[in-house]
Amino acid sequence: MSQFDVVVIGAGPGGYIAAIRAAQLGFKTACIDAGVNKAGDTPALGGTCLNVGCIPSKALLQSSENYHEVLHDFAEHGITVGDVKFDAAKMVARKDEIVTKLTGGIAYLFKKNKIESIFGKGSFKGQNGELWQIEVDNKGEKSLIEAKHVIVATGSSPRPLPLVEIDNKNVLDNEGALNLTEVPKKLGVIGSGVIGLEMGSVWKRVGSDVTVLEAMPTFMAAADQQIAKEAFKIFTKEQGLTIELGVAIKEIKNGVKGVSVSYEVAGKAKTETFDKLIVAIGRVPNTDGLNAEAVGLVKDERGFITVNDLCQTNLPNVWAVGDVVRGPMLAHKAMDEGVAVAERLAGQKPHLDFNTIPWVIYTDPEIAWVGKTEEQLKAEGIEYKKGQSGFAANGRALGLGKAQGTVKILACAKTDRVLGVHMIGPMVSELVAEGVMSMEFSASSEDIARIVHAHPALSEAIHEASLAVDKRALHG
Ligand code: FAD
Ligand code: NAI
Repeated sequence: MSQFDVVVIGAGPGGYIAAIRAAQLGFKTACIDAGVNKAGDTPALGGTCLNVGCIPSKALLQSSENYHEVLHDFAEHGITVGDVKFDAAKMVARKDEIVTKLTGGIAYLFKKNKIESIFGKGSFKGQNGELWQIEVDNKGEKSLIEAKHVIVATGSSPRPLPLVEIDNKNVLDNEGALNLTEVPKKLGVIGSGVIGLEMGSVWKRVGSDVTVLEAMPTFMAAADQQIAKEAFKIFTKEQGLTIELGVAIKEIKNGVKGVSVSYEVAGKAKTETFDKLIVAIGRVPNTDGLNAEAVGLVKDERGFITVNDLCQTNLPNVWAVGDVVRGPMLAHKAMDEGVAVAERLAGQKPHLDFNTIPWVIYTDPEIAWVGKTEEQLKAEGIEYKKGQSGFAANGRALGLGKAQGTVKILACAKTDRVLGVHMIGPMVSELVAEGVMSMEFSASSEDIARIVHAHPALSEAIHEASLAVDKRALHG
């Protein structure tokens, strides 16, 4: 029977990164993963993120944005194009190529780092002394391996809506939403969360009439509400997405004429029929197949594996990282937890600050933030100052033809320490790194104000916002 120092279950961003770091630190490491490619016939490493999440969605976002720009934005640059055509199947094929390249890249990294890559479903079997026994089920063929340390990184799956079954033909989850080869005339989306907004944007840009149905009365409740309101206005008034808030879905029928959704909103009953319906109402942790009960691995009431800040479970030498544990379901959070656990096994003392994990929503304009929102600061009774700057007068943004949006910095009223940075605008997915760095280094808003920012650059909006905290913006 094969024995390892470390066995990782799951090769998504949490698992594959944990395996690579553990191998770098000299541990004999194996990684078990059950993921397969789109055709379902070949093992594919990289988990949700690489196969059906972050990477493919960003590929489609870029393709659809390019198409939209050609149609709507090129003319102001003096560029006239005729007979522009869009081929959804080609866009999806390009996305598939990127996915194949990156998932193959993980296989290469496993080889390079001498990680044993094992295909199949991993589950706890029992203990042999201080070693954990893990059963691997490869399509019914079972084998057993042993390891001193186990890192569970089994990720998450779409949360089902009891009213309807996902067939990934007409009623789609995130996977189906990434694989439409024709533009649906009418697209319904249930849930105005991150997936709903990103996938809704993709298909809206290429011509779908998109309606988003959201249960909460508040749009993007987790985001700073000033930014959320600005986003709502742009998405609905300018881009033409229909977003209904405070919706109660009553019935969904998936029939030959499309998918009809009956719902109530503001006391009125409505029914809409869509060609396709995306259901994106959050995700649930993958713990069912782990046989956690056999070894007494504790889960919380929602099925997440219970861990402390160090990602330790209740069992000795059993750790868990990524979507399968508490905290935001983000690839970079999963990766950093994976690195930290591997380093802890080697006796190092890594620190992960959960207050400085950035969020990005890759709509156009993009939305990004780090730290506390104004709503959170108010609820916690923390006195704060704020400074903000728009992209409207930013020379680089105007040149790009993307001069929409705002950067807002929130700083402690007493110490000036940066507590939150919130943005909507061009490439704020990149700009948010300055906010993360500032908060990690406990910067004050004055520290940012005294840093020389390149000109002309989008980052000047951060500089201006920091100056505005002290009411001395130079261009505001
Ligand atoms: P996963 O990536 O889910 O990987 C878990 C792996 O474990 C899978 O390969 C699975 O097959 C395998 N597995 C499960 N059970 C077993 C078992 N018993 N045995 C063996 N293998 C098993 N995050 C971002 O930060 N940025 C984004 O832009 C972004 N975009 C997203 C877009 C979409 C459409 C979706 C759905 C998600 C997106 N996310 C994004 C979230 C991100 O994908 C997840 O946070 C991330 O993948 C979590 O990593 P993980 O390693 O915890 O789990
Ligand atoms: P989400 O949690 O972001 O949003 C789900 C939305 O559905 C919420 O607004 C919720 O109120 C709503 N909802 C729940 N039940 C409903 C119902 N019955 N009817 C109508 N609305 C309902 O979840 P989503 O969009 O599925 O994405 C899952 C996770 O994947 C995200 O939370 C995020 O962690 C990750 N992700 C990250 C991305 C990024 O970082 N750019 C991109 C896409 C996903």
